[in-house]
Parts: sequence; structure tokens; C-alpha cells
Amino acid sequence: MCGIVGCILNKEVAPTIIESIKKLEYRGYDSVGIATLTDKVNIKKGSGKIKEVDEKIHLTQVDGNIGIAHVRWATHGNPTKENAHPHNSCDNKISVVHNGIIENYKELREQLESEGHEFKSETDTEVIPHLIEKYMNEGNNLLHATQKTIEKLVGSYALAAICIDEPDKIIGARKESPLIVGVSPNGNFLASDVPAILNETREVIYLEDNEIIQLEKDKVTVMNNQLEPLEKEIVTIDWNPEMAEKGGYPHFMLKEINEEPQVIKDTLSESSKIKEIVSKFKNFNRICFVACGTSYHASLIGEYLIETQLHIPTEVILASEFEYFQNTLDDHTLVIFITQSGETADTLKALKTAKKISETLAIVNVVGSSITREADHVIYTRAGPEIGVAATKTYLSQLICIYLLVAHLGENDELIDKLFKIADLAEESIQREENIKKIAKKYKKSKDFFYIGRGFNYPTALEGALKLKEITYIHAEGYPAGELKHGPLALIDDGIPVVGILPPGPSYPKTYNNLQEIRARGAHMIILGSEDDKQIDDVEDKLVFNSEIDEIIAPLIYIIDLQLLSYHISVEKDIDPDKPKNLAKSVTVV
Ligand code: AGP
Repeated sequence: MCGIVGCILNKEVAPTIIESIKKLEYRGYDSVGIATLTDKVNIKKGSGKIKEVDEKIHLTQVDGNIGIAHVRWATHGNPTKENAHPHNSCDNKISVVHNGIIENYKELREQLESEGHEFKSETDTEVIPHLIEKYMNEGNNLLHATQKTIEKLVGSYALAAICIDEPDKIIGARKESPLIVGVSPNGNFLASDVPAILNETREVIYLEDNEIIQLEKDKVTVMNNQLEPLEKEIVTIDWNPEMAEKGGYPHFMLKEINEEPQVIKDTLSESSKIKEIVSKFKNFNRICFVACGTSYHASLIGEYLIETQLHIPTEVILASEFEYFQNTLDDHTLVIFITQSGETADTLKALKTAKKISETLAIVNVVGSSITREADHVIYTRAGPEIGVAATKTYLSQLICIYLLVAHLGENDELIDKLFKIADLAEESIQREENIKKIAKKYKKSKDFFYIGRGFNYPTALEGALKLKEITYIHAEGYPAGELKHGPLALIDDGIPVVGILPPGPSYPKTYNNLQEIRARGAHMIILGSEDDKQIDDVEDKLVFNSEIDEIIAPLIYIIDLQLLSYHISVEKDIDPDKPKNLAKSVTVV
């Protein structure tokens, strides 16, 4: 999983290209590199985040009006300078950046080595410039050599190639990894994602699988894999560059949490579209959700809602485990795929299988992403670009879509009214931030955390724990409140922090009792509950919410405080919450 950019301008390209690739750092930050063309290929690359590498080797100080760049999330080969992209051909005339995985690279490498090609890295990518070199040496131009190359590749790719023999063009291609084109009067761009080009243009062409592109300064030619030209629509993006910037906050994650009240309103404005989509569903008697990570937790809340409100049998399958459950799908199952990026490889793979048998719906944030092009129906979550690796506002927007879906399926106007009241209640979460900071300071040195909830709020416990793990590196577990006594209670010791999610509603008495059992064993309780709840008066660390927020609505509000708690513990521990180690925003490998 990586990010790529390519551009041709009528001026020095490096400063623009490095600004663009910075916008893709959420896709990987193990290494960065740039290649430009003058009378030779000029390369600068190194391992580490862009800022660190730039301080050492000054990435923008490289000449040329045409160039490509890459940020890497290592899959094949360690995150070293040698493995950083771009990768060159033996004669150093051709340079390539690539996102994806070439599954047959070992065979290709052996073949190329037997023909005399010398490799300098451990990457799967390096076979690409060597194959292009081989086909150019046989008399093909860069476009035809790239076409012949991708015919040999098994796996996924979004790639860009340049060559000093044809210094006026970039050739790009995509299969199962995202690639878009930005069109502007000053030159043209290709990139893995829209934020990379927003400073330069809002005019975008989305490439489909098996399409090839020739980028020139004044011309963009999109072709199928037989090199026949295709008519492509140019879409105007309504995100402005500022929306993709930090907007004055120290981190994207904090900015994105603060955007949540507005995101709730924006996503609610999709209500009538969701109603229309619901009216198009065929008959179904079962629902399956398929998702990963945070999107999986949103799906679990969907399961609780559908089972309790609509009485339709529902299950939630982790996308990476989907193949073990696919045999029971039929044409009366509605399969719902939830993903903020729309590019998660496990989810995409499951969708490709499910759509052959069942009706499919995708709930996605990124417009035009791969999953939106595969599903029968698409609901956009409208959260805007999310740069922080930890999903925050996109999770909330997924939940709003699920609640609206359930409300429209059940013609439940009361639920719709409740939803339209919650944006103001979300504002109040942001106002509890000072209290949250104090709790964060108090528990920043804890080694373990438990998160406890019941019913609709059990997935909130899971999501609270995931957020803590991924950005603070503290071990955390989410449990259903009633399940602790079946084993995990043995882990409760003096001083261990336990976050109890205790909104008002029918589940309250049982959850309260479970929390008392935990407290009696010496745990430090952090309770999230109603401001009218007298039973939590003696709890020192608590976050109290408007008492109108009952257990059904609580997942939409309580999670904001848990996101803020993780954020502030992360900052207290001097961790960059936007770029947790070993993770990336968009997981495009299975
Ligand atoms: C969320 O904080 C995580 N970074 C991760 O679990 C994420 O939700 C998961 O990778 C799924 O991503 P998607 O929603 O883009 O499919």
C-alpha cells in the first residue's frame, strides 16, 4: 500500500510534486522518493517520513519539468533506501513508481536475471522498469512497452513510468489499485487519490481497472488495455484544498473529530437519497455486513439495530474471513459493504465474490473509489477527506447512514426525528474536552485498559479500545458487560482503568451491576453516562451526557469522547496520532 504522483508542468516540477505526495502520506510513510527527467533520470529517495527525508536530502532540489513520486508502506522488502521507489531500469533511462503487489514477481525476476538484468532492491516493483526496458530494447515506445509489461503482471498495480528517450510524457496504468488524473491548464497530474492534486486542480478523471493513460503537458489520453482511446468524463470535485489541510489544529485527527457535528448534518442530508435507494432493494430476508476494523464496528451496531428494530436476521463478517462464510449467500441476502476508503483490498475482494450471488450495497466515503464501482447500490457518507489514520468522522458518518437506512427500511419516523436532533448534542462532546484532557493525563502511563458496554454500546466499547490501541500503543480490550465474569474478570486488578459505557435505557440496570462488580475488584472506573444519573455521583472520572441520549442513540455521541480520550493520551505520550506506527489509512493489500 503506497501513494503515487506524477506530473508534467511548464515549470520546475519538484516543489509541486513533493507538496502533492505529502497529501498521500496517509497511504504510507516508510519511505519517499522522487524522479524527474532532464537529460537523465534524477532520483532522490530515502527511508522515513517525508519531512525527515526532506531535511536530509532536500527532495525539492531536483531539476526537470516532468516527474513521478512515491510514498511507501512496505510489503516486499524492508523500508530501506534501496527498496524506496522510484525504481530504475539497468540503463537508468526508465523510472517507475508503483502501488500494489506483483504476485508473480519472483518468476519474472528470475527470468529477467537470466536475461542479464541486474536488480538493486528486494521489491516486487523493480520487475516493472526492467520489463519496460526489455520491451523498449525490442523497438517499442514507452507506451507500447508499458502495455506489454502489464500483460505480464499478475496482481494489483497503479503505476507511473517515465523515460529519458520520451521526455514529454508519463505513462500510467491501473488494476485493483486506485489511480486518478488531474487536468489543469498548467499541466496534468496522476495520483493515487484526490487530495494530492487539489492544490492544482479540481478537474478529475477516475481511471478504471485495465485502463492505461498517456499524460502530456497539454493532453491526456486514456486507453483500454488494447490502447484504444476511451471517452472519459471529467468530474469536478467539490472538496477545496483547505478541506484537506489541518485548518489550524495540531493534528488532522483533532480537526476531524471537531468536524463531527457538521459531518452529522452533512450525512443526514443524504436521508432522501437513502430512502430512494431503499425503495430499489429487491426482496431480501437476510442481511450480511462485510467490513474491516472500525467499519466492522459500525457494522456491528447495524446488526444490533436491524435485529432489534426490523427483526431481520443479520450477521457481520470480517472481510478478511469472508471466504469461510460466502457459501450461504443467496439471492435473498442483501450484502452491505462498509468502508471509508472504498479501497480496502479484503472488502473489495469479498464484494467481487458476493455480487455474483446477492444484491450488494456499499456505504463509502471516497467518491469514485474502487468499491463504489463494483456495488449494485452506493450510499456516500459525505464525511469529506479524512487524513488521520484513525477513523473518526468517517465512523460517525457510517453510523448515521446505517441509522438512516434502518429508519427508512422500517419507516420509523420517530428514529429519523431523533437523528435530526443529535448534531447539537455532538457539539457538547467537544465541550467536554478539558475534562477529557485531565483523564488522559491521569491514565497516560497505564499498560492496559478495558472498555465495557452492552447491546448497542458493546461495539462502542470495541471501537473505543481499537482507537486507544492504534494511536497510543496501550493494550486495550472491549468486552460486552455481561461477559467479564466468564473469564476476563481475572485480569481486573487494583488501579486498572475500566471505561464503562452506561447510557440510560433498558440495559442500564444490568450494565450498572456489572460495572459495580468490576469496581469492587479495585478497577479505576471512567464512566460515560447520563448527567441525571445519581448512581454515578461518587465516580471521580466521568463524562456526562444529556439525558435525552438513550442507549440507541448513545453510539453516535459517546464515541466522540472516546476518540478524544485516545487522541489526548496519544499526545501526552508524544506519539503522532495521525501516523501510528505500522499502520496506513488505506489497506490495499489482502
Ligand atoms: C480505523 O481507525 C483503522 N485505521 C482501520 O481499522 C480501518 O477502519 C480499516 O482498515 C478499514 O478501512 P476502510 O473503512 O477504509 O475499509
